[in-house]
Amino acid sequence: MKFSFYYGALLLLPFGVVGQQVQKASITIDAQHKMAEISELQYGQFVEHLGRAVNGGLYEEGSRLSDKDGFRKDVLEKVKALRTPLLRYPGGTFVKTYHWEDGIGPKATRKKRRNLIWGGLEDNHFGTAEFITYCRKIGAEPFLVVNMSTGTPEEAANWVEYCNGTEDTYYANLRRADGFEQPFNVKYWGIGNEEYAETDAGKHQDVNVYIKDTWQFLKLMKLQDNNLKFILVGNSEDKAWSQKVLEQMGPVCDYLAIHLYSIPSDTTYQTLIKSIDDFEKPLVDMETLLNKMPAKVDKFSNWYRFPARKEPIKLAVDEWGIWDIHSGKGKGLYNMEYQYNWSHALGVATFLNLFQRHSESIGMATWAQTVNVLAPIMTDANGSYRQTIFTPLKAFRDYAGKYALAATVNSPDMGSGIKSLDVASSVNEKGNQIVLTIVNRDPEHAVASSLKLEHLPISFKAATIKQVSYTGKSLYAVNAPGHEDAVNKTETIKKLNLNKMEVLLAPASLTVLVLEAKP
Ligand code: AHR
Repeated sequence: MKFSFYYGALLLLPFGVVGQQVQKASITIDAQHKMAEISELQYGQFVEHLGRAVNGGLYEEGSRLSDKDGFRKDVLEKVKALRTPLLRYPGGTFVKTYHWEDGIGPKATRKKRRNLIWGGLEDNHFGTAEFITYCRKIGAEPFLVVNMSTGTPEEAANWVEYCNGTEDTYYANLRRADGFEQPFNVKYWGIGNEEYAETDAGKHQDVNVYIKDTWQFLKLMKLQDNNLKFILVGNSEDKAWSQKVLEQMGPVCDYLAIHLYSIPSDTTYQTLIKSIDDFEKPLVDMETLLNKMPAKVDKFSNWYRFPARKEPIKLAVDEWGIWDIHSGKGKGLYNMEYQYNWSHALGVATFLNLFQRHSESIGMATWAQTVNVLAPIMTDANGSYRQTIFTPLKAFRDYAGKYALAATVNSPDMGSGIKSLDVASSVNEKGNQIVLTIVNRDPEHAVASSLKLEHLPISFKAATIKQVSYTGKSLYAVNAPGHEDAVNKTETIKKLNLNKMEVLLAPASLTVLVLEAKP
């Protein structure tokens, strides 16, 4: 039996709201309308050899803070807390001049090179095996990207053999000689990165050239291991590029990659939030292209010697994030050690809601990046700390359910055409836990929103509601070494009142509501 409730327990006013003008909103969730399964790969991360992301970030040989393998223990503990399901590596633009064989074997003999893309020297002490070891430590699936600019299809296929080979072959034996008897079983492989970018070291600005080369890379790699899943370069700002890649590579493209970076043109909060809301359109555009593709491939020549894809093509938002060039530490254009304040954290929560609402098309997403560079975790020689954006990244990973539910929101406007509330909802596999992630982006007004839950299973008659609210000390509050105090968290839990429910959302807040039916 299903029924609808309109609940009416005014939840406690979060600290700081008293005395402010409260606006009204309404949120309606259809508890039975599962829009799509949420891929847990939506909560991935990205690591590139860029600045202090690897060396001095998650890896620091000889540091008193590192373990015997050189992994920074303090950083590892924080990365683990994010429960990253997928880790993308080694770039990014860096990959365009990266030769994976530089990063294997005894460290003393690894080739030291200039990092031509991002500057500095690369000693290659963190390479394939270290990356895989890191993935194993944090429980993430590895996602490798191949160099299709200065690298060759054969080099990429050899990398597959090194990682996944099980027979008595040269590269599989090389892995064994490096101390890894068992194959790494790397399933996700990106063929190039932003290959359309004219200013980069790549050579594929013409989509036809990209397609021709990709076929050759992909064929040789798939002949090594036909279980691989490929992520091909799309472009959300160039529909013609994306359409052509889909049309020509459709039978073997598992994911179409797009990068969504908010790069606000000025320092205002409104500009930041709007730049993220504006990603709705390119996502819909990409979905329109995907929807034209057949879910399964009918005809595929046996002479390829490997099967075509079996699942519908999904989007891989394999780089997303916020480049607030106004909040950097002024250490140079390529430094990207941006400082994230609470307003950025609200932006990240908005992004995550957006992805959740587009779960039908988004098969994976990897936040760019993980440590020091565009990062939720920052280090120095004495320790590390979490930036404000760590909060939403962790909250969504911890609370989001398995299926996205449809939510209808009636929200006030906070000016500049921006809705105050941004909402996503989900339900767990068992159907006994419904979650709402609500961002009140309005920095001036609290919002009291009614909550209507349609087609709620009868089991929710005896349920609890947990409200976890995150607010910043101010919109521009930041954490700093030794001071992770920019974000306040409050948590209340009570019996669900079946007659009426209204939730009070503090200005500039992220609220997670967890409704849990009791057995
Ligand atoms: O994440 C930093 C850089 O941003 C990546 O190397 C590149 O792919 C993107 O433009």
